[in-house]
Amino acid sequence: MKKSYQNIEDKRKDGSVWFNDLKRKRESGPKLQHKRYTEFGDSTKSVHAGQYDDQKTGALGTPIFQCSTFYLSEASYEAIEEGRGRDEMIYTRYGNPSQWSVQEKISSLENAESSIVFSSGMAAISSTLLAILDKGSHVVSSRDIYGGTYNFLYEDLDRYGMSVTFTSPTSIDEIEAAIQENTKVLYFEALTNPLLKIVPIERLVALGKKYNLRVIIDNTFLTPYNIKMLDLGVDLVINSATKYLNGHSDLIGGTVSGSRKLVDRIWPQLLKNGGSMDPHACFLLERSLKTFALRMRTHNSNALDLATYLENHPKIKKVYYPGLASHEQHELATTQLKGKYSGMISFEIEGGDAIAHTLLKTLKLPKEATSLGGVESLISLPYNTSQASLTKEQQKAIGINDGLIRLSVGVEDIADLIFDIEQALIKIFK
Ligand SMILES: Cc1ncc(COP(=O)(O)O)c(C=O)c1O
Repeated sequence: MKKSYQNIEDKRKDGSVWFNDLKRKRESGPKLQHKRYTEFGDSTKSVHAGQYDDQKTGALGTPIFQCSTFYLSEASYEAIEEGRGRDEMIYTRYGNPSQWSVQEKISSLENAESSIVFSSGMAAISSTLLAILDKGSHVVSSRDIYGGTYNFLYEDLDRYGMSVTFTSPTSIDEIEAAIQENTKVLYFEALTNPLLKIVPIERLVALGKKYNLRVIIDNTFLTPYNIKMLDLGVDLVINSATKYLNGHSDLIGGTVSGSRKLVDRIWPQLLKNGGSMDPHACFLLERSLKTFALRMRTHNSNALDLATYLENHPKIKKVYYPGLASHEQHELATTQLKGKYSGMISFEIEGGDAIAHTLLKTLKLPKEATSLGGVESLISLPYNTSQASLTKEQQKAIGINDGLIRLSVGVEDIADLIFDIEQALIKIFK
């Protein structure tokens, strides 16, 4: 006989609702075929994991399941009845084979039990936090955080009876001091935007364990190619798939990965917030991911070469890149990232923001656009793009100085990128 519940708390106490039902066997996530390629390297996983080859037609590669709904069957009625809607094909906001296929590939790359793809990075971030936090919960986060996330934490948590404290992302002491009785989550970006500060992940995880907190990391700037967050004990890892995962600047998407138990808890929030990824975007993302490892290798090596070039140029005042010995946390970068320092560089040019604007207009290859992680180099000034929602004082406090430029280094020939920057600097400072 069905029970009737007063509220969600009754359901949780009862323990018989699906997201709290630990008796239910947890699979690794919905899938058509199990294709994790667990024992293989990232290049092999990128190409093969999750791909659905249609047995009936022999079509090689995941078809686009461009449908909003599916024929109902005994299996789907049963899944609805038992609250297992995530595991069956019912309705595309709930799940779709195109989503499942790319989720398998992401899980494989993240070494995760389970993943969900979203319609944007912000959908992944907001749904994850709303799912994990309860009324009255507190979050410790970073002052150096993506503007959209900052706005969500600062403006919206309050409306749900939750709160946030922003700290330095590099000081474990400051983070520990901010923990309160009601703190539930430590939320940080692994490599910060735009100054590429490094969060000491292992120490953050230890702090999470000490106080029984969930550690959630936005790994957009590094990606699972450069560091596997879940292997280090992080509870949930988020990516804006818009960036390196997709890598072609032609879709908006987001991912969250972790244990099946935690990811199962986020899924109902996805249903309520409605940020499911469209099947066509899933197709593009899965196809782009086939070259993920290939692209990341070039992003990393191009950025290291370009950072070294910029550091030696007399008109460049300072370069921020974890692979340079001059980076304040270079030692931590070396042990944590093991030589994979990312494709992002920030640098300060002589002459301040006015000259920085001129440089953007003088360059031929890097495109003046916000965002990052595309095959093409993208260049912008943080003060009027990613950090525009901060006041001048806040920008100064986190180190966004006059003349700071952010460069997402693409996969063009490195000699061409260096030549282009050189010709622009010669023109400007002649
Ligand atoms: C670090 C980081 N996280 C999250 C996001 C949000 O991602 P999306 O634009 O896909 O919603 C961004 C966007 O720039 C970002 O840089």
